[in-house]
Amino acid sequence: FALLASSSFASAAIVEHSFHKSSITAVNGSLPGPTLRVKEGDTLVVHVFNKSPYNLTIHWHGILQLFSGWADGPEYVTQCPIRPGQSYTYRFNVTKQEGTLWWHAHAQWLRATVYGALMIRPRSGRSYPFPKPHREVPILLGEWWNANVVDVETQAAAVGAAPNDSDAFTINGRPGDLFPCSSKHTYRLKVVHGKTYLLRLINAALNNQFFFKIANHKMTVVGVDASYTNPYITDVVVVAPGQTVDVLLTADQTPGRYYMAANPYISLAGAPAINRTTTGIIVYNGTTASRPIMPVLPAFNDTPTAYKFFSSLTGLVTSPFWTGVPRQIDEHMFVTVGANLVACDAPGNASCQGPFGLKLAASMNNASFQLPTKLSMLEAFFRNVDGIYTTDFPATPPLQFDYTNASNSFNQALLITRKSTKVKKVKFNATVEVVLQNTALIGVESHPIHLHGFNFYVLAQGFGNYNPAIDAEKFNFVNPQERNTIAVPVGGWAVIRFRANNPGVWFIHCHLDVHLPWGLATAFVVENGPTPETSLPPPPPDFPKC
Ligand code: C2O
Repeated sequence: FALLASSSFASAAIVEHSFHKSSITAVNGSLPGPTLRVKEGDTLVVHVFNKSPYNLTIHWHGILQLFSGWADGPEYVTQCPIRPGQSYTYRFNVTKQEGTLWWHAHAQWLRATVYGALMIRPRSGRSYPFPKPHREVPILLGEWWNANVVDVETQAAAVGAAPNDSDAFTINGRPGDLFPCSSKHTYRLKVVHGKTYLLRLINAALNNQFFFKIANHKMTVVGVDASYTNPYITDVVVVAPGQTVDVLLTADQTPGRYYMAANPYISLAGAPAINRTTTGIIVYNGTTASRPIMPVLPAFNDTPTAYKFFSSLTGLVTSPFWTGVPRQIDEHMFVTVGANLVACDAPGNASCQGPFGLKLAASMNNASFQLPTKLSMLEAFFRNVDGIYTTDFPATPPLQFDYTNASNSFNQALLITRKSTKVKKVKFNATVEVVLQNTALIGVESHPIHLHGFNFYVLAQGFGNYNPAIDAEKFNFVNPQERNTIAVPVGGWAVIRFRANNPGVWFIHCHLDVHLPWGLATAFVVENGPTPETSLPPPPPDFPKC
């Protein structure tokens, strides 16, 4: 393998962001951090020097990490964090996927400012399954807090309450000119009339799904999560945290200025609108300054529009990486995802500010996931160390109930849960099907569930309680979309299937960062295969220690 990119990441402590002055942790002094451009088949080597005051790791979101689990990045799952002043080199092959992925911090809430794009182009001799675009442009949607994000998270966690909302949404790090005093901080994309652009949209926001539109222009979706899709023409894109969407945009309108804009899709039923729109401006070459035309965005709670987008995408079976849906299932799981409560550390503690004086939490099958701290789970797996996790993650919820009817499903036994570190162990190459079922115990909402280390096929999705007798009939075995993050519909379910062809410990969790410390997570521990080639190799020499 050729060494293609060797980027030195320095998490510089101070970056002055002139729309609001504060110290943030950023990579190589920029927000977003640098875009990494690789070709499929390359080996990527990234040296990370942690000059920030926080423990840090970097996750390569969506990279399959075949036999390179030590480079995946989630803190205490595949590695101990890189301490301030320490460094670690991530080394992995980028194979069997093309399109847009991204990288981000996977420690506390640091990904709010530590993130960037990862573009994977076809290897030489191969081309895109669509006409070559004139230019390729990463568009990163983000979320900005005026306060220190780590403080926002730790303060909320201490009292078990919901953390404060962010202060702005951003496009490529800038809020846009609808925010006060931000006219200079607006992302601009210059286009030439008649040319086609590949926009690589990434939702890097912590806690919000987005609707994204460009005034007067249609977009053609050609890929999601670094998997090609059949072309899908739309005027609105919906992108959940963790997801990416590749769209072709042709500059075919009257030369002028057009806003690109994103609004949150707040799927939490009954939530008030956060009335904030982030904007960028498409500027046709040679046009003089004029007020850009603004698109009409869907309402914050427009679930039909979100569902139409999410459920209309199909996978491109002629892609060189298409493997087909495994038809025989080795492991079937039914997993509830949603918010719960956990007891206060000291009962009756006045500092617990969640409902009923308890702490807000979240769980999968009522197990609220707690990260270990003494050793990473992957090291425990590799060295056979006991006591770091247990392998009793339940394949079904502890009791069946009406999951999606908030008034019926209020069930004391499930509302209050406990912390544990339970994982699901599966054999090498097992095929796994997971029905993800949202619950309505605390809130009725959509959870973007991200699986590390694998792409999965989305066989079906819908609203209400999953009913195998009816819903299994709707499975798409022909050309389902392939993703690494599925926005399970609000008050609904989704069915995913993948082959566990990669030994190691693979996190699966809600990509709303508010829900990760609450425990909406578990992990798959995939056993080694029968040969050295199908087993996890030893960790690199500079692997961080706990
Ligand atoms: Cu992009 Cu575990 O996350």
